[in-house]
Amino acid sequence: MTNSSSGAPWRVAVTGGTSGLGLALVEAFAARGDKVAFVARHADKVAATARRIEGSHGIVGDVSKKEDTHAIALQIGVALGGLDVLIHNASSLGPVPLALLADTECEDFEAALATNLLGPFRLTRALLGLLSASARENAAQGTRSLVVNVTSDAGITPYAGWGAYGVSKAALGHMSRIWDEELRAHGVAVVAVDPGDMDTPMHATALPEADPATLKRPRDAAREIVERIARERIVGGIGSSA
Ligand SMILES: NC(=O)c1ccc[n+]([C@@H]2O[C@H](COP(=O)([O-])OP(=O)(O)OC[C@H]3O[C@@H](n4cnc5c(N)ncnc54)[C@H](OP(=O)(O)O)[C@@H]3O)[C@@H](O)[C@H]2O)c1
Repeated sequence: MTNSSSGAPWRVAVTGGTSGLGLALVEAFAARGDKVAFVARHADKVAATARRIEGSHGIVGDVSKKEDTHAIALQIGVALGGLDVLIHNASSLGPVPLALLADTECEDFEAALATNLLGPFRLTRALLGLLSASARENAAQGTRSLVVNVTSDAGITPYAGWGAYGVSKAALGHMSRIWDEELRAHGVAVVAVDPGDMDTPMHATALPEADPATLKRPRDAAREIVERIARERIVGGIGSSA
């Protein structure tokens, strides 16, 4: 899909853009000609990714840290000059190796909640002004702004050993539905998207014995998400009651 078929370039921010699905999303947006900023913690990987993907802008930050929130939001606004689509993709597994809840340290549970739930909450709040400004700018074209929360089937199915991660993703899914109700009047839609089991470093860490050949390519999951965004941004499109 290119912008020749879908209108003006989007201004997109992706958390966790140096690996797996996030990296594939940054590549997909850059290939469409969109303006894309991404966030990750390791400065060397952020710089290398930004150098490699022309038109992308790398931001070093940790979404799990409250004190990083406004610096990340400010850099997104400056780099993109506004914001149409915000994707919360960065994630923590909690305890590694995965552990039963009875064996999960409180700190590991907190890390999963901080990255997968509180980070998206704080960064969405910090960027609401830009998202609603974009919605006002684009209302005449019938386009709304969008927040995409990347969830997982572990947030629905109670897999043993996936407690901290699963609880955080379940909460992220429900937070998506509540944000969506609350922001609809401002032209901002919020959706939760499960990309499916993918061949990524996170998957290899969680399930080292899995055969990568049986897993989805991050590139394919990214393409599906880009297509979903295009549909969701249309006022009156799927998931829309506006
Ligand atoms: N892989 C799967 O099979 C699968 C299945 C269902 C759902 N998902 C979801 O898909 C999303 C992407 O997963 P993935 O497998 O692509 O992960 P991944 O390969 O481990 O990549 C994670 C990315 O997030 C960044 N990151 C991690 N913690 C961060 C933090 N606190 N602040 C900022 N950036 C952070 C990492 O860079 P740094 O380490 O440099 O920060 C990296 O760029 C996640 O939300 C995951 O839950 C994955």
